[in-house]
Amino acid sequence: MKLFALSDIHIDYPDNARWVDKLSDTDYRDDVLILAGDITEDTRLLGWCLERFAAKFRQVLFVPGNHDLWVRREAGDTCSLRKFEQVMAIAEDSGASSRPYSHGDTLIVPLLGWYDYSFGQPNNDLRMLWMDFRACRWPDGIGPEQVTEHFLRMNPKSLPAAARQRRVVTFSHFLPRLDLIPRFVPASMHFLSPVLGSSGIERQLRALGADTHVYGHSHINRRITIDGVTYINNAFGYPQESMISARRLVEIG
Ligand SMILES: [Fe+2]
Repeated sequence: MKLFALSDIHIDYPDNARWVDKLSDTDYRDDVLILAGDITEDTRLLGWCLERFAAKFRQVLFVPGNHDLWVRREAGDTCSLRKFEQVMAIAEDSGASSRPYSHGDTLIVPLLGWYDYSFGQPNNDLRMLWMDFRACRWPDGIGPEQVTEHFLRMNPKSLPAAARQRRVVTFSHFLPRLDLIPRFVPASMHFLSPVLGSSGIERQLRALGADTHVYGHSHINRRITIDGVTYINNAFGYPQESMISARRLVEIG
């Protein structure tokens, strides 16, 4: 049994969907796949993708990303919180799970999240350019900070003592800490920091005693150990991003 990580597969790009379709139907039957969000905003494609992965792996574990909660194609009275419920139902129906899962001597815990500006306040450029501000809709009076609070409240806060004897792998779509962004990222991109994640995710994964945390969203692949936790990003990414993201599964050792 092996544990693999993948995020940001963005199967709206036909090349990316083809990769999913062509992935071996036999090689991963005993293995577990962590899918850390941003599959597609299209619910029909989402169901297709999760079903394909679920047929190839022993278990697929999934949390939605921001793109999965876009409601540009949905009726005007639908909000992203309702889309979240719909996405979770599609995942369950497709054979994927968003609940903690035991895998050999490892416990894998999905962590929902969003961004709450704990990494910085958005400036005007970000408010203009960041698609979520137009593609997501939230109920009146609810902003990203409240959305983050809402999702973090749904995560497990602690583990029973027996679970702590085991290796704990947590995963989220959003970044738990800003220093996961490598130094080579130019200062001109730092305006994106506020929408990258939440320090609340970091607090939760530490409280759960995580040894490894898988994240997505940044599309900058990385494996780094900070204060005893190994953080791994293995984004599939957009076709033009082959320099910073990989187009393969990565095993979590
Ligand atoms: Fe994302």
